[in-house]
Amino acid sequence: MDVKDGLKDVVATETSISRIELVDGKAILEYRGYDIHELAQNSTYEEVAYLLLFGELPSKSELELFTEELKERRELPPQVVGLLTHLSPFSHPMVALRTAVSYLGTMDRNIAYTSHEISIEKAKNLIAKFPTIVAYFHRIRMGEKLVHPNDDLGHAANFLYMLHGEEPTETMVRAMDLDFILHADHELNASTFAARVAASTLADMYACVVAATGTLIGPLHGGASQRVMEMLREVALPWRAEKYVQEKLERGERIMGFGHRVYRNVMDPRTIELKKLAKKLSEEKDSKWYEISEAIEEAVRKHKNLLPNVDFYSASVYANLGIPDDLFVNIFAIGRISGWTAHIIEQYENNSLIRPRAKYVGPKSRKYVPLSER
Ligand code: ACO
Repeated sequence: MDVKDGLKDVVATETSISRIELVDGKAILEYRGYDIHELAQNSTYEEVAYLLLFGELPSKSELELFTEELKERRELPPQVVGLLTHLSPFSHPMVALRTAVSYLGTMDRNIAYTSHEISIEKAKNLIAKFPTIVAYFHRIRMGEKLVHPNDDLGHAANFLYMLHGEEPTETMVRAMDLDFILHADHELNASTFAARVAASTLADMYACVVAATGTLIGPLHGGASQRVMEMLREVALPWRAEKYVQEKLERGERIMGFGHRVYRNVMDPRTIELKKLAKKLSEEKDSKWYEISEAIEEAVRKHKNLLPNVDFYSASVYANLGIPDDLFVNIFAIGRISGWTAHIIEQYENNSLIRPRAKYVGPKSRKYVPLSER
């Protein structure tokens, strides 16, 4: 038995949702065949979510209908609001999100059905409600009044409005929207794989999304951006970056926001877009986060030859949008829910139970010793 640690480079399934290809030292990332840079420049999150779920870009009327459908589904059932008020205010917001997802499942009479139509309905519901769960839990834990969804605002603008209680500027909306687009899908990353493993048992969509949210929170995956922010705060000044990085590497520690399982020695295309965005926002907000991030990037390249991943520049983008550090991974999840649900549906529709093997390395064929003789 040949073991591939961490399933490195194992091709575990086929997908038509997103494509990563490394060509001549450059990485291509496409959603349903559309280049991420083009989508980043021209699209909106609603359009990208539609593309991921249905496989095609929507017509104008299809997009209008989809956008309306999301708006109609934004509000949470009172029971879920009640649940959020009962959670400990010290709970990590990502734990609150996965608990709320599980609770939503208890209210869905169609929970066990996996047909295409019913799954699409569930997906729309989850895409629409994720921002509300995150914003409501944040306001509840801060002891602030809930800000209900505003139907005049798009997905990204409405999220910032519900979170901060005031309408965001155009730059903030565009930045949030772009961030959601860039996080919407990424082939067989760990959380999507977790969702697909659950879906392969024909578990309900809520269970699959709980598996995905539970996997995303880890610091080696989506949880890295919160740690990046902690690092930016600790470094505090660009000239201190090199010493910080050197000392951390000497202690054998990892620098959060660097390295990637797929993009080894190749820049993650999402990082290219996020870096531009982080620079623009830092200039507009006159904040120091971009400068510190750039100094860290330079130092890590020099001392370990590693490139920043999607979580690295996300941190300064979120900080400049006024988002608290421990909500960073939730922001990732708000973007990724469209990809997760698209993958769950794809798995349901071309299913084979995901059940790999393990090479046994423990003691073999031992003789059982009765308790009285041990
Ligand atoms: N800091 C320091 N060294 C690193 C880092 C890092 N961030 N990432 C990898 N390395 C080193 C390893 O120590 C190892 O070095 P060695 O060969 O000298 O022992 C080498 O690079 C290869 O590392 P692996 O762990 O084998 O690479 P793998 O593909 O398994 O790990 C991972 C990928 C988990 C993302 C890793 O790069 C990491 O821990 N990064 C920090 C956490 C992070 O930013 N996660 C977010 C990833 S993006 C996302 O999930 C959305």
